[in-house]
Amino acid sequence: MIDGKAFRQCLGKFATGVTVVTCSDADGNPCGITANSFSSVSLDPPLVLWNIAKVSNSLEGYLNAEHFAINVLSADQQALSSHFARSDHTMFSGVEYSLSDDGVPLLPDTIATFHCRTHQIHDCGDHFVVIGEVTDHQSTDADPLVFYSGTYHNIKT
Ligand SMILES: Cc1cc2nc3c(=O)[nH]c(=O)nc-3n(C[C@H](O)[C@H](O)[C@H](O)COP(=O)(O)O)c2cc1C
Repeated sequence: MIDGKAFRQCLGKFATGVTVVTCSDADGNPCGITANSFSSVSLDPPLVLWNIAKVSNSLEGYLNAEHFAINVLSADQQALSSHFARSDHTMFSGVEYSLSDDGVPLLPDTIATFHCRTHQIHDCGDHFVVIGEVTDHQSTDADPLVFYSGTYHNIKT
């Protein structure tokens, strides 16, 4: 038997960056969710993935979105990570963002952005795995925000 708490602790030993995954829902409302499940999948074709919990209030928005964006946070953006980890339907009020040509909210001053078209969605346990085809991307040399063992860390690059 796997103990849930110990399993989460063990998973936390894998240091990750932190992203906010954004999309617009069917009514055009902006959605954002903090996610560290982001991973590369394929270079050719260019594919990435992230996982969304089935209990997420924004689930329908992401399952139906044709496009989404992965906003990779900088060391200075811990407050944004905490903000988008809250369950709050008005979470974009007071948050600066722009809209991509595809109508996806984009956060400014991130260290990387991946613009994605939803490619496949897999039903896996208590999450859905969302695979996106990358249609565009940008990056900078700023330092990343890091999540490790349940807390935020900064590393100098
Ligand atoms: C560092 C960090 C990483 C997270 N990664 C994920 C993730 O990959 N997938 C996910 O569904 N939730 C993840 N969460 C939790 C969601 O951000 C959070 O449950 C969600 O924003 C709550 O709002 P919702 O219920 O409206 O979705 C993460 C939270 C933090 C702080």
